Amino acid sequence: MTEVLNFAGVQLRRGDNPILRDIDWSVDSSQRWVILGPNGAGKTTLTNIASARMHPSEGQVTVLGEVLGHTDTHDLRTRVGLTSAALADRIPDDETVRDVVMTAAYGVTGRWREEYEQIDETRADDLLAAFGMLDFTNRAFWTLSEGERKRVQIARALMTDPELLILDEPAAGLDLGGREELLAALTEIASDRRSPAMVMVTHHVEEIPQDFTHALLLREGRIVAAGPLHQTITSATLSEAYNMPVALHAHQGRWTARKA
Ligand SMILES: Nc1ncnc2c1ncn2[C@@H]1O[C@H](COP(=O)(O)OP(=O)(O)OP(=O)(O)O)[C@@H](O)[C@H]1O
Ligand SMILES: [Mg+2]
Repeated sequence: MTEVLNFAGVQLRRGDNPILRDIDWSVDSSQRWVILGPNGAGKTTLTNIASARMHPSEGQVTVLGEVLGHTDTHDLRTRVGLTSAALADRIPDDETVRDVVMTAAYGVTGRWREEYEQIDETRADDLLAAFGMLDFTNRAFWTLSEGERKRVQIARALMTDPELLILDEPAAGLDLGGREELLAALTEIASDRRSPAMVMVTHHVEEIPQDFTHALLLREGRIVAAGPLHQTITSATLSEAYNMPVALHAHQGRWTARKA
């Protein structure tokens, strides 16, 4: 087991606003983390730092053994697979599905003058096939449904065979069937010991894939609770994170939460 992420005393400020405060967090290669917390709690900011897209204002962050601020982040970013709304927004409208996946090899969105080899194309197609998207390889990304886009984005995130996979709200905008399909795909990735460490942000305990191991709850930039999943996700910690009484129920390995 190797440590893939380490946050020590991390603060992030925007102007005078503290966005993240006193973050101490460590992720190991075998772990799968879910991050929960209200809107504006700092979840996306945390994943932006964890994927080497942002630097902390204070404290030290180590990503895959490299200390941010003392390393080439372009190289580091290709070792971290990321899906997020911000990244999806940067994909050019007319980009084909295959190119959306393949361009991850260079850490870019939008094909330009990079040289791709047959092996890149084959890998992209294999990943698209694994997510049931092989029939869509030549379609323009913008013509896809939300569920199809999500699957292509995860295929893209896996293109570089990353050591860390970060998914920021991967199920947002999916219908019930799409969500359940995505959950099954994520469960499959999570249960495979060869898979990278995973960090997934979600708003819903219903969307925690089985085989996830750890959880981190954020509120107003601070950690409310972090650790092994079943000790961390409780009615008490959720009530504290969301500042209201929350009743949590578990049934056959899945959770539901509502106001108590
Ligand atoms: N560039 C910025 N300048 C100023 N404030 C920012 C900036 N980026 C984020 N923030 C603020 O930081 C806080 C945390 O934002 P972040 O996007 O990390 O929250 P989040 O937990 O991902 O929320 P959501 O659940 O809505 O996605 C928010 O209050 C947001 O307005
Ligand atoms: Mg967010």
